Amino acid sequence: MLTTTNTAINIRYSNLAEESCCLSCGGALNHAKAAQGEICGDLGSGRGLDVIRLAQTVGSGGYAYGVDISEGMIQKARRNIEKFDIKNASIIQSHLEKLPFKTGELDLLISNCTINHAADKNAVWKEIHRSLKTGGRFVVSDIYSLEPVPEEYRTDPEAVAECWAGSVTREEYLEQLSAAGFDNLEVIEESSPYDKGKIQCVSWTIRAYKS
Ligand SMILES: C[S@@+](CC[C@H](N)C(=O)[O-])C[C@H]1O[C@@H](n2cnc3c(N)ncnc32)[C@H](O)[C@@H]1O
Repeated sequence: MLTTTNTAINIRYSNLAEESCCLSCGGALNHAKAAQGEICGDLGSGRGLDVIRLAQTVGSGGYAYGVDISEGMIQKARRNIEKFDIKNASIIQSHLEKLPFKTGELDLLISNCTINHAADKNAVWKEIHRSLKTGGRFVVSDIYSLEPVPEEYRTDPEAVAECWAGSVTREEYLEQLSAAGFDNLEVIEESSPYDKGKIQCVSWTIRAYKS
């Protein structure tokens, strides 16, 4: 899906791939508590460091996939996987709206500060639901906006790529999760509201199981 927003995302994150700035908005990986032998994915895997930690945790009987669209991030993550000599991990170039997993393939999906960028979040949550096995879980750190983001920003590719203008309200977020089949949501962390770009937003880390 080549859209102007995805082009802006590719440019922004490819430029950030060699930087060391933190791009996360919560502790999804730590809260995920991956176990030996699990098959896992990280949506918006960036430089690949969470994928590497997942791979080390699940061991040789498990596997960790990273998914990202930005060329620079994908290359950086693949180099990191090679540098740490990780054999049970790989990075797949894919959009979140059509995940490269078989139905019911995964025990665990994590994501950190990525889903807010996606143009069709309903499709993303449905894909997360499809990709998890029954009893599997997602643990996602992301942001939501306190008020609906004004259209002038929502439709601005640069503002969406900057990780704020694509965000939806808490209410809309919960509706999307429910529409995808996740009704047992746990809120693990939730920040106080803070300013980001031209909006006020909240960071949270959430978990739900596929029943
Ligand atoms: C804010 S960074 C977070 C990276 C990483 N999760 C971390 O915590 O360091 C967002 C990442 O998601 C990727 N991304 C953004 N929108 C995406 C989309 N629609 N499909 C796949 N990846 C996307 C970007 O390329 C970038 O690597």
